[in-house]
Amino acid sequence: MIRRRVTVLGSTGSVGASTLDLMDQAEATGTGAFEVEALTGGANIAKLAEQARRWRPKVAVTADPARLEELRDALAGTDIAVAAGDAAIVEAATRPVDWIMAAIVGAAGLKSAWAAAATGATLALANKESLVCCGPALIERVKRAGGRLIPVDSEHSAIFQVFPAEAPERVSRLILTASGGPFRQTPRERMIGITPQQAVAHPNWSMGAKISVDSATMANKGLEMIEAAYLFDMPQDRIDVVVHPESIIHSLVEYVDGSTLAQMGPPDMRTPIACALAWPDRIAWPAPKLDLAVLGRLTFEAPDLLRFPALDLARQALKAGGATPAVFNAANEVAAFAFLDRKLAFLNIAAVVAETLECATKAGMAFGSGDACGAALSVDAETRRMAETVIAGLANAA
Ligand SMILES: NC(=O)c1ccc[n+]([C@@H]2O[C@H](COP(=O)([O-])OP(=O)(O)OC[C@H]3O[C@@H](n4cnc5c(N)ncnc54)[C@H](OP(=O)(O)O)[C@@H]3O)[C@@H](O)[C@H]2O)c1
Repeated sequence: MIRRRVTVLGSTGSVGASTLDLMDQAEATGTGAFEVEALTGGANIAKLAEQARRWRPKVAVTADPARLEELRDALAGTDIAVAAGDAAIVEAATRPVDWIMAAIVGAAGLKSAWAAAATGATLALANKESLVCCGPALIERVKRAGGRLIPVDSEHSAIFQVFPAEAPERVSRLILTASGGPFRQTPRERMIGITPQQAVAHPNWSMGAKISVDSATMANKGLEMIEAAYLFDMPQDRIDVVVHPESIIHSLVEYVDGSTLAQMGPPDMRTPIACALAWPDRIAWPAPKLDLAVLGRLTFEAPDLLRFPALDLARQALKAGGATPAVFNAANEVAAFAFLDRKLAFLNIAAVVAETLECATKAGMAFGSGDACGAALSVDAETRRMAETVIAGLANAA
């Protein structure tokens, strides 16, 4: 029986809701028992309130102060405290618990992940953007507090499960698998008119809108390459990406003796979340299981860097180091949301990232002194302004 006192940051999102669903199923199966300290969400008050009524956290927090009264009304008659705003989310993240799921989307999740890292709890990190923005400092902060960081991204969870942490010199290469997204086989000339609706329709995974767009441009794999470099202390030239459309092998670790270990499973985020929730133990729940005979075959191909330039831009950002991965992240986030808001064409997402990276390099963008989270947030804010200018320039030129 796994017992945990938990907080879920971003509980109303795809990963957050999957976390609560998994906990529900483990309780129903009699393999898990959970107390919830805090749940946090954004705009979806109805879902946050429904989750809070089920799990009875000490506090439910919305990121949006304008929605506090709506949340208060929705939880009237309960003893659940309510709060709103960034500072309240950070406060929720610092409450003593055994396990914290960091599943807010984008750089908005950085402050709370940073706060959670100092608590000494196990930090289940889905918010890859915070690792990309200040990975080494975040990892060090978790260590110093006596906690443990467990990756939730399915690829990093896969590597984490087969990586020899006690002898990293035995590893020659990490191989990240990528589904290739919904446009894996779309010719470039037909990528011009891609709509947000088409881009978020991922063939294998059910995910939030931003990561779905990132998956469609393959910027997601670029972010994951950076994430892997920091998590496993691996130089970029020893991290490869292979397209594997079935999303069954979640990633591989190649050893120096030529042996390669892979982790497999159906494409369901509840499995890597279960791994993070129970680690180093395993929790039984009614998980979907692999049937290789039914699958028949697994296929692989090299990524097409011409149609998906974001992947190489991420590699260049990782190579450049310093603040450049944070610049890549912010530029990509602005461009992905501009595309979702129908203010930017699909193919221009990578173009905006490329131009913003160039502007930032010319401007000598670097982390300032002081705490790594604050420095990353300054770079994030400055890059957002640059990316907005680039997007405005494209709109004026059109
Ligand atoms: N989805 C996946 O399968 C998957 C897999 C691997 C990694 N990840 C990573 O996990 C993270 C979450 O992804 P997701 O797909 O679950 O995203 P999502 O479905 O969009 O959910 C995002 C969560 O963050 C909340 N949120 C949005 N803006 C916020 C803000 N400014 N401040 C505080 N909270 C805010 C949302 O609240 P409301 O919805 O209430 O507005 C929601 O709870 C991302 O970093 C993603 O890259 C996701």
